[in-house]
Amino acid sequence: MSYRGYQGYRSYRVVALPGEGVGLEVTAAALTVLKHVARLEEFGLQIDQGLIGQSAFVAQGSYFPEATAQLCQGADAILLGAVSAGLLELRQRFDLFANLRPICPSPALLHCSSLKPELLAGVDILVVRELVGGIYFGAAGRNIDQQGDYGYHTMQYHDWQIRRIARVALEQAQSRRRLLTVAHKENALPQLPWTRLVQAEAEAFPDVTVVPMLVDNLAMQLVLRPAQFDVILAGNLFGDILSDIGGAVVGSIGLLGSASLNAAGFGLYEPIHGTAPDIAGRGIANPLGAVHSVVLMLQQWGEQAAARRILQAVAALLAQGYRTADLLTQADEKRVNTQECLELLLAELVNQ
Ligand code: IPM
Ligand code: MN
Repeated sequence: MSYRGYQGYRSYRVVALPGEGVGLEVTAAALTVLKHVARLEEFGLQIDQGLIGQSAFVAQGSYFPEATAQLCQGADAILLGAVSAGLLELRQRFDLFANLRPICPSPALLHCSSLKPELLAGVDILVVRELVGGIYFGAAGRNIDQQGDYGYHTMQYHDWQIRRIARVALEQAQSRRRLLTVAHKENALPQLPWTRLVQAEAEAFPDVTVVPMLVDNLAMQLVLRPAQFDVILAGNLFGDILSDIGGAVVGSIGLLGSASLNAAGFGLYEPIHGTAPDIAGRGIANPLGAVHSVVLMLQQWGEQAAARRILQAVAALLAQGYRTADLLTQADEKRVNTQECLELLLAELVNQ
């Protein structure tokens, strides 16, 4: 699932879909970082802005308008902020089935985690979440029977859907520490045999150890002993829940970025956090989740130097004690808002 390799002058078209809430603030900051790094690393950028979510509904009567889909067609990447509606349609439209969510605590932020710092040594997890199947996309509805009104959602997976996300997770494990933990719930959901299907795909990856784990136990293990994990593979619902635990592990969900890729390596990049209506519009949101999404975008393009530059700038900023409000825990830390965080980051980019 690697992106096409570039030779000579590189140029990329990015569709920015800020969405709503803090999505507007963090996407603007992340785009500024991207433009800055493009100048420093000498590649071209075209940024097209599109509508999704509430603002799209108000302007065009749909949470994911056809005009937005057309704009995304043929782009090199989509950068999304946060939305309350329209996202599932976007993911489905481009078959973005492979959601990669790295959970890697920053050395400067160990004390921000809800876990004891000694539990974080060596923690470097990649959650691979299936993103276009399962219960979020199964038959659903509301109905009425003798007992009254009821609702239902159906968790359905074709075997090929499990097998293709398994191959992505196995490839990722192979390039990391070669351990793949598979989240499943086969004691209650035996018709969804994740273990058997992943093990069958793993025959082509003899150097990867596959460990099936009941998802309830996995959730507990993530907070008891997170260092035991390398790659975690999960279906859509379980992956959604498990990756939020990752936010507590690293100290704030505002730090985490993600990539959602299709089979051609085309992707949507978005922070894991939501629209955060409680702080939206106040200019205090943590832009680093969106910035980490840009890092994943650059890595997928093969722009490794640019990605490294951003990661080092973020590390330097955090090492100097700068923190957005979601991360403040100690008196000697320096509180910054979104704009200040961005300006510090831009200054650091040049130093790397
Ligand atoms: C996420 C979000 C979305 C999801 C919502 C907004 C549909 O929680 O990206 O984790 O459940 O996938
Ligand atoms: Mn979620």
